[in-house]
Amino acid sequence: MSAAAEPCFRINGLRRLDGLLRVNGAKNAALPCLAASLLSDQPSRLRRVPNIEDVRRLLEILSFLGVESDFHDNEVVVRPSGVCGGSPPDALAAALRASFLVMGPLLVRTGLASCGTPGGDVIGARPLDVHLAGFRALGAEVESVGGRTIARAPHGLRGATFVLDYPSVLGTENLLLAATLARGRTRLVNAAMEPEIICLAEMLNRMGASISGAGGHTITIDGVERLTGVEHELIPDRIETGSLLIAAAVTRGQVCLQGVRPDHLESLLGKLSEIGVDVSQKPGQLDIAVEADARLTATNLQSLPFPGFATDLQAPMTALLTQVEGTSVVHERVFENRMQHLDELRKFGANIIAGGAAPVVIGPTPLTGAVVRGTDIRATAALIVAALAADGESRIYGVDHLSRGYADLAGQLQHLGADIELARSADTLTN
Ligand code: UD1
Repeated sequence: MSAAAEPCFRINGLRRLDGLLRVNGAKNAALPCLAASLLSDQPSRLRRVPNIEDVRRLLEILSFLGVESDFHDNEVVVRPSGVCGGSPPDALAAALRASFLVMGPLLVRTGLASCGTPGGDVIGARPLDVHLAGFRALGAEVESVGGRTIARAPHGLRGATFVLDYPSVLGTENLLLAATLARGRTRLVNAAMEPEIICLAEMLNRMGASISGAGGHTITIDGVERLTGVEHELIPDRIETGSLLIAAAVTRGQVCLQGVRPDHLESLLGKLSEIGVDVSQKPGQLDIAVEADARLTATNLQSLPFPGFATDLQAPMTALLTQVEGTSVVHERVFENRMQHLDELRKFGANIIAGGAAPVVIGPTPLTGAVVRGTDIRATAALIVAALAADGESRIYGVDHLSRGYADLAGQLQHLGADIELARSADTLTN
């Protein structure tokens, strides 16, 4: 593929990361909290919103649905007084997975919701059956026509007990959003427990919703008549935080991240400690410091729903494991096609034996600079991690993927001492 004029990250590896940084607000909290604006006709203000492509695209979708917004300095003011229905344009729906989050709010507010096939990272089949079965349980009629989902509830939704087949994150959020204005009580059993669900529930409760149990397996929602506007600050991005900690470790650096939530990262922090990274956090403080000396050792890991090891950190962690002593087995258990970074990691010299969803990483192998392409947000982050540990210059394509989910990962790494820049390259990339 010709990469003429295509942006890439140019990285000269083997620079030790060192320093202090404040992380951004969470992508995966920003998206459902913005979708929540569809549930009220009053303005809301969201703080600590990351300036990423997925947020900008969701704001565009919301503007098609009657929500005006301003986005400056990580604050979004939404004015949803014009909401009266509609559907996201198909091209925008296809740009991100979270476009489907408009379904729950539109369905309960207007009685009709429709959305084309949502996009996002191509990391598995990513069906929508949990969302759709949940809407049906709340009394909606749902049909899928040529990839478009249409849900109708002309007489409103009514509360019900619904057991999710799988604790889908966006599925839980969509149903939570819909149930806030449904008649009566809804119980979501086997709900996702991710911190972003708690962040959304807290916002909705401040808007006047009655939600308890968010963060646990069962969430109870007593429907209310209406919701008001709110001011709400998003939680820190645990995946950005984790990616930076992993980058620090791979360079054997010493980094302190501020404004983070260590309780959202226990599985990663546990793994980092286990392989020999010195992790320090003071009780009650919102800082995490890591220091990695030369000798780190192998571990096995499996990605799981929260509080298990986050699938979004599996690829960056795999890159780190190429630089530790011993044999690690990495088992991806959330998405069936989230190993596309392995071939690219091998181009740096990584020794990874294919094992389906559980490859074996044998380390440490010296990495050398390579020209590689990221195929999704976190795979691209993983290649950046590898390039930081590689001798010589690397070029990482897939900048568009990264900018969907990280506000300024390259700038943050540069601040910590990495030699990384966004560049345009006329070289030809064949992969
Ligand atoms: C969210 C996150 C994503 C993260 C993922 C898992 C956002 C915007 N994205 O994605 O970063 O990687 O959680 O932590 O928050 N599934 C079904 N049926 C469904 C829905 C999902 O079988 O109706 C399956 C999926 O194919 C996948 C698994 O459930 O195998 C997890 O998906 P899910 O939790 O829904 O991920 P997302 O919410 O799409």
